Amino acid sequence: MKQLRVGMIGYKFMGKAHSNAYRSLPMFFPQAALKPQMTAICGRNEAAVQEAAAQFGWQESVTDWRELVARDDIDLIDINAPSDAHKEIALAAAKAGKHIFCEKPLALSLADSREMLEAAEAAGILHMVGFNYRFSPAVQLVKKLVDSGRLGKIYHFRAWFLQDWILDPEFPLVWRLQKEIAGSGSHGDLGAHLIDLAHYLVGDMQEVIGMSETFVKERPLASTMTGLSARASADAPKGPVTVDDATLFLARFGNGALGSFEATRFAAGHRSTNAFEINGSLGSVRFDFERMNELDVYFTSDGEDVQGFRRVLATDPAHAYSEAWWPPGHTIGFEHTFTHEMLELSNAVSEGRQPVPNFRDGVKCQAVLEAVERSIDERRWIQISEM
Ligand SMILES: NC(=O)c1ccc[n+]([C@@H]2O[C@H](COP(=O)([O-])OP(=O)(O)OC[C@H]3O[C@@H](n4cnc5c(N)ncnc54)[C@H](O)[C@@H]3O)[C@@H](O)[C@H]2O)c1
Repeated sequence: MKQLRVGMIGYKFMGKAHSNAYRSLPMFFPQAALKPQMTAICGRNEAAVQEAAAQFGWQESVTDWRELVARDDIDLIDINAPSDAHKEIALAAAKAGKHIFCEKPLALSLADSREMLEAAEAAGILHMVGFNYRFSPAVQLVKKLVDSGRLGKIYHFRAWFLQDWILDPEFPLVWRLQKEIAGSGSHGDLGAHLIDLAHYLVGDMQEVIGMSETFVKERPLASTMTGLSARASADAPKGPVTVDDATLFLARFGNGALGSFEATRFAAGHRSTNAFEINGSLGSVRFDFERMNELDVYFTSDGEDVQGFRRVLATDPAHAYSEAWWPPGHTIGFEHTFTHEMLELSNAVSEGRQPVPNFRDGVKCQAVLEAVERSIDERRWIQISEM
């Protein structure tokens, strides 16, 4: 198996998820065209990144991403740093001729994401963006049902991504709550995934209108600026929250379908409910990532006496990726979506084609994110073509 030599930046949440995927890919997908070689991992704290390298299985650790990007023994730069760092690293990586895998949202703004796409295209490199939820077998099944026409004409895409990790007003002001680092709050973090799923499963949006709120406007400054479980000391000074806690929006798709989207970090009891429903002229599907192995499916063609949603367990050989893992009924989880993502990346690089989703999808998502923000500022519908 040929090698794909990876240099990765960031070693916390996504850094760990990606490392696990690089390790599991050759074991479960020996047919993958390229085997990831975990060449070097980068972080700013030398001791911490050394520890991560040893724990995750990287050959080396470095503290300056510029050094990593310039190395001759790296084919792919994997960007897992917070969103404000994506553009600078991606532009440098493209200039150095490296392929890029970048976490979502692609950038802080639409203009920045377009600059990243242009730089990648000018350099002729391959690029991918981390919309990992596409790679759930049940989501792949939805894609198949929609594309084959089994759900008929699509009327509704109804999606919600609900979390509750900042419900406590004393939860500190981590980077995800600061616009200059995160770009936006629940909107760009959670909403971005829903928007990508909508693009993937239903199609392009024509116009949007939204509303948002920041319920807790000040929070204690964090002793550590990273992690979802950061803590502040009891007497910590406070700083302003500069992103949305919740954003909701409506959309009209180019194919006539209507969409509704809700992203919030204030839905008590919802740890990470990433869910959607699609209603078509011939049936419906219902998906909730907290039960990611299952898909509720309804077909109007079922006999009148047995009509109703059925629960399909997407772990059979008929379902994407499933044969590579365990026997039917032996379920998979969050981390497997990243392995599937790396399978696409490995095969695309080997074939010299753009992986999907790539920076174009990242830009398309960013256009919707920004159109929703503009609609909120201007209190009107925004055409995506205006962006
Ligand atoms: N696809 C998904 O499901 C998903 C989930 C969470 C986060 N994300 C995205 O992944 C990215 C990272 O999020 P995370 O949750 O892993 O964050 P995190 O805070 O857990 O980790 C960020 C990492 O980046 C490092 N870092 C920060 N600035 C750096 C710099 N200048 N140079 C080198 N390293 C630097 C930090 O030390 C840390 O290791 C974000 O863009 C986020 O939106 C995607």
